Amino acid sequence: MSVPVITIDGPSASGKGTVAAIVAQRLGFHYLDSGSLYRLLALHARKLDVAWDAELPLAALATTLPAAFEQGRVWLDGNDVSEDIRAEEIGIGASKVAALPAVRAALLQRQRDFAVLPGLVTDGRDMGSVVFPQAATKIFLTASADERAARRHKQLIGKGESANLPRILQDIIDRDTRDAARAVAPLRQEPDAFLLDTTELTIDQAVETVLRCFGQSQ
Ligand code: C5P
Repeated sequence: MSVPVITIDGPSASGKGTVAAIVAQRLGFHYLDSGSLYRLLALHARKLDVAWDAELPLAALATTLPAAFEQGRVWLDGNDVSEDIRAEEIGIGASKVAALPAVRAALLQRQRDFAVLPGLVTDGRDMGSVVFPQAATKIFLTASADERAARRHKQLIGKGESANLPRILQDIIDRDTRDAARAVAPLRQEPDAFLLDTTELTIDQAVETVLRCFGQSQ
């Protein structure tokens, strides 16, 4: 029996992770946040003093990345790094290591191994285009850069962290450019992906739309 896979790709801070996790929960499927693998690699490399542009050493690290996803937390070498990998700086490192072809190749099978019954919901940049091209349902989830910056700003303020809206907006625009312009697995909407613009939608509305798309594909 083939494993049903729902891919949700899109730019940073679009809310795709939140939507993907809720869809996975509603369907009782597994969930893979593929960006966390690149973030884990960036963190691991920094701890080991490996530069974020050292392609072959990074690919070797990616192959043996001592990462685990358990109890809704992310572990590296036995340490809970769920918060550490969310730091802005690690996000920037993640997008740098993710631009290296050997790194992406090293993480490919690891991501595919998450596709087990009863099914998988996964989010990232190239889940529908490269990692799971045969996915039952492909979504390209986006929102305007201003809306994404405003959401991220609200999230940081909610956590009691300092946040500068113009800087967040610039970071989002820079990361979009880096993710879309890179030679390997650039961020783009696949022809067979459903475009879901959440600028004017609530999370619930976005979740219902993904579930409807999946229902229609079955
Ligand atoms: O989604 P998130 O912001 O956590 O991802 C961190 C970085 O990892 C992104 O900026 C992107 O460059 C990279 N990434 C990727 N391919 C994926 C998931 C994330 O290149 N499938």
